[in-house]
Amino acid sequence: MKRFVLSLIPVLAIALGCSAPQTPGIHVIPQPLEVMTGSGTYSFAGAPVSYEGVDARTAGQLQNFATRLTVRTGKASPVSETLLEKGFSFSVDPSVPAEGYTLTVTGKAAKVTASDFKGFYNALQTIWQLFPAEWFGEGPAKGVKWVLPCVEIRDEPRFAYRGMHMDPSRHFWTVEETKKYIDVMALYKLNRLHWHLSDDQGWRVEIKKYPRLTEVGSVRKETMVKKNFDPYVGDGQPYGGFYTQDEIREVVAYAADRGITVIPEIDLPGHMQAALAAYPELGCTGGPYDVWTTWGVSEEVLCAGQEKTYEFLEGVLSEIMDLFPSEYIHIGGDECPKIRWEQCPRCQARIRALGLKDGAGHTKEQRLQNYVTSRMQEFLGRHGRKIIGWDEILEGELTPGATVMSWRGAAGGIEAAGRGFDVVMTPNDYFYFDYYQSEEQDREPFGIGGYVPVEKVYSFDPYERLTDAAKPHILGVQANLWTEYIATPEHLEYMLLPRMCALSEVQWCAEENRDFERFKSSLEHTGDILDQAGYTWCQYVFGKVGLQ
Ligand code: ACM
Ligand code: ZN
Repeated sequence: MKRFVLSLIPVLAIALGCSAPQTPGIHVIPQPLEVMTGSGTYSFAGAPVSYEGVDARTAGQLQNFATRLTVRTGKASPVSETLLEKGFSFSVDPSVPAEGYTLTVTGKAAKVTASDFKGFYNALQTIWQLFPAEWFGEGPAKGVKWVLPCVEIRDEPRFAYRGMHMDPSRHFWTVEETKKYIDVMALYKLNRLHWHLSDDQGWRVEIKKYPRLTEVGSVRKETMVKKNFDPYVGDGQPYGGFYTQDEIREVVAYAADRGITVIPEIDLPGHMQAALAAYPELGCTGGPYDVWTTWGVSEEVLCAGQEKTYEFLEGVLSEIMDLFPSEYIHIGGDECPKIRWEQCPRCQARIRALGLKDGAGHTKEQRLQNYVTSRMQEFLGRHGRKIIGWDEILEGELTPGATVMSWRGAAGGIEAAGRGFDVVMTPNDYFYFDYYQSEEQDREPFGIGGYVPVEKVYSFDPYERLTDAAKPHILGVQANLWTEYIATPEHLEYMLLPRMCALSEVQWCAEENRDFERFKSSLEHTGDILDQAGYTWCQYVFGKVGLQ
């Protein structure tokens, strides 16, 4: 944070015309690039909201903002489509970088400039975090002093890709729960939702050409109790859910209105047992298969030796492309055991026909997975889309143009960037939010294991061990929240927050602005915000462990 030296503060206060000598703290997460605190405050109840030259999406958000101001403060905030000197004003400045903004708050006005919708939307997130936390509550608020601190901010992100992953496959999250997740991502200026829509334990997206994917593949007959693998113990409760195509469109539009692109994942050729339960002819053995009721890595994978499998994948991905405007389509690629392929005459015949051989540390079956990946890459590429996949896609050959998501530590990402591939860093030892976040694990809700406290999340250096030539290949950073052992929205939010706040600073803040103590000092205010907005969050940084 840049601050005026103390002696300049009164000068700034006079220049900004602020009304009172006290300034509330500036607690914005992620910390903006440059913050110059003034002194005094701007009382904004009844302030107009004006804008000029902005696009329709921005205008819609600003109208919503004015409506909410009116409801929360109890004083009408009119909207003006010509810029006003007083109140909240929003104007276009093409020189402001993508997603960035400037904000100047004086004693009588709050002025924002940005060059795109996301910049304006990010400015709103900053303004709201500078408001009293009651802003995030519902209905009219009584007895709140509606003031903004006088401040000048210039802000822009460090990384263009700022992701958070969501897993509705292991446990399903309703559209409303998904929107609430998106809301809190937007608050901390994340801009990619990686939506893991298919796995062994459930297929979650309606595909019109293959209706059994949801008729059969979206329901498992029960779920394993805790870690009772052997002997297996199931809970006897059928479990399922899926999103209709209309619901998918609704979520995609909701996210877009908050500056977030939804990247769908269809995990292939492994993690496909739910699809095989629906269409057993797509497997090497022909089944029968059930939607998996246990966790782990299934040996049942798509048969890569038959054309029917590729027709299926292209049919699914065609509908996925219709539903998701995202340039990236995530094709998974992780944890694909090769035992079925080793034994399958069709897969072996395909290996021979392609001339694939063992060698250079890779088996011919691994090279068959390369073939599957590159066919999907080529198919999606013909439709103007790019693939992103887990770091296993690097093993063997990978066609230029693919992007690698490094999850088994950072090593895969470092190797990929060194080989000239774009990378999203999501190493499990820093960004697996299904891992425990305190050392008192007996007081935490039951989880998968691991230990990733908020300090660890915060400490990640995306450029560690990278050459200067490789650094531009790091598109950004993401955290993953797998939900094998997470079945309720309260538990989901508890695992997400406040670690996602720390993630947002890794994604957004200039390296020199990262300071864990300063971040921690803002957690109290952000905690008030999360309480007001109705989120459950893990308070162990304040000495409270467990779901309260
Ligand atoms: C993963 O955690 N299997 C990507
Ligand atoms: Zn096969």
